[in-house]
Amino acid sequence: MSSDTTRQQTATADDQITRIILEAREQAYQETDHEPEPGLTAKVEWPVTCTVGPGLEGAIACESKIGYVNGSKGWLIYRGYDIFDLCAYSSYEEVAFLLLHGRLPKAREFDAFKTTLFRRMYIPETQRLLLSFPVQDMNPMAALRLGTNLMRQKQTYRDRQLEEERGRLIATDEDSIPMETRPTGKRRPVFQFISSMLRRGAAPEPDVLVGSDEIASCYNLIAGVASIAATIGRVREGRIPIEPAPDLSFAGNYLYMLTGRRPTPLEERVMDVCLILHADHGMNASTFASMVVASTLSDIYLAIGSGISALSGPLHGGANVEVIKMLDEIGSPGAVSKWYRAAQEEKKKVMGFGHRVYKAYDPRARILGPLAKLLAAESGHASKLYATAVALEKEVVASLGEKKKIFPNVDFYSGIVYECMQIPAELYTTIFAVSRVAGWCARVIEYLANNRIFRPRAIYTGSFNEEYVPVEKR
Ligand code: SDX
Repeated sequence: MSSDTTRQQTATADDQITRIILEAREQAYQETDHEPEPGLTAKVEWPVTCTVGPGLEGAIACESKIGYVNGSKGWLIYRGYDIFDLCAYSSYEEVAFLLLHGRLPKAREFDAFKTTLFRRMYIPETQRLLLSFPVQDMNPMAALRLGTNLMRQKQTYRDRQLEEERGRLIATDEDSIPMETRPTGKRRPVFQFISSMLRRGAAPEPDVLVGSDEIASCYNLIAGVASIAATIGRVREGRIPIEPAPDLSFAGNYLYMLTGRRPTPLEERVMDVCLILHADHGMNASTFASMVVASTLSDIYLAIGSGISALSGPLHGGANVEVIKMLDEIGSPGAVSKWYRAAQEEKKKVMGFGHRVYKAYDPRARILGPLAKLLAAESGHASKLYATAVALEKEVVASLGEKKKIFPNVDFYSGIVYECMQIPAELYTTIFAVSRVAGWCARVIEYLANNRIFRPRAIYTGSFNEEYVPVEKR
């Protein structure tokens, strides 16, 4: 395809997606402008008084400048920027920089940051180590967590000191891993060792940003988790890893390294928006898990590994996979009412609905819904999923919207978008993790600046003064 045609297609995709996002923003503002102004946004004098429910509902754990979720308005803000604007005008790389460094990058910094992320997506040693495990039979999130441990083995700055003392901890035959770089047009894989572009001694690492081992580890994780997630998808298909392509964006390279084909401009732009939407979300369970581990001064690789573990649960990041199973089980829009009546009788929680903080429509679902509609029009199965989802949303919101403030959340439409990109459902939560690493890292780095180990209390409702009876007398 000529570069002019690609440029034209990219411009068309950009305009189409930006228009969808700005329309969603207008609708959100119209529907929620009457809502009260944000709460929980003024500086506090510690200790603070808060009403805490089970699961730490309502508890205030710390102050943060990184992101804000206004549940009543259905607002999501990263470092003061509205999520609709970031999706319309920014990119995942720029949002990751914003979350981590607290400001939008200047042009030179942004080029350096994109270069460093690209270079750090190239982790042949970690991929080779990963291939020595039965990844194809593992839960993808368990494999992703394993991958971060293998990255840690090689790249944790503390281990690097150890490595220097004891010699290299693991073989460094990084040239040993054959890389399948699918040539344009040819059908047979070309095994290519480290590409000249990346061979050691290539363009030096831009040091304009890093500044500390912790930030370097964050860059490694933001880039490396995407490569590991793509590798897991490849191995589950019985294929070997692909190295990143220097001319693709972060989102484009994730798709390329996962599928083995260069994404269309529309797919690349939609994946980029999905990564922006999932990047940070306040003190959600997986972010909190990462912060708790980091607060013990464990290292950031192990902290991010705990975030991956927490995210994998179906009540959190695993809901997107459950939504597709649920929509397939319902089968068609006409079957929704019967299914929903049965679900209500069984007091079943409808996957993709409800939220601890949002008591309004999740702004992320406001964008993912129209994106799912756009992409689903091209695919029979996806268009049936989308039609069923719309019918289900109508039923659930009619019965629980006003009464319990239950609306679609980020997971309700994301799976349909990924289904349209032919991504297997079991990988959906790994995509959530690929994006959220930026938020996890940013919040860990911010909290460590004024660290205090997390240590809540439990109300003891057990007994006292029990008398010990030796086992022979029990
Ligand atoms: C994510 O925290 C974050 O920010 C998370 C996240 C992020 O970006 O990190 O936004 C990502 O995790 C989105 C949520 C994905 N999970 C799901 O879609 C699973 C289904 N949702 C529910 O499990 C639930 O809504 C939670 C877990 C999301 C929130 O649960 P809460 O705040 O603990 O609410 P709850 O279980 O106490 O329910 C309160 C009431 C109950 O009714 P009553 O007992 O008071 O009569 O609301 C009902 C619940 O039965 N309810 C639902 C429901 N969710 C809550 N009823 C039907 N279907 C649902 N989905």
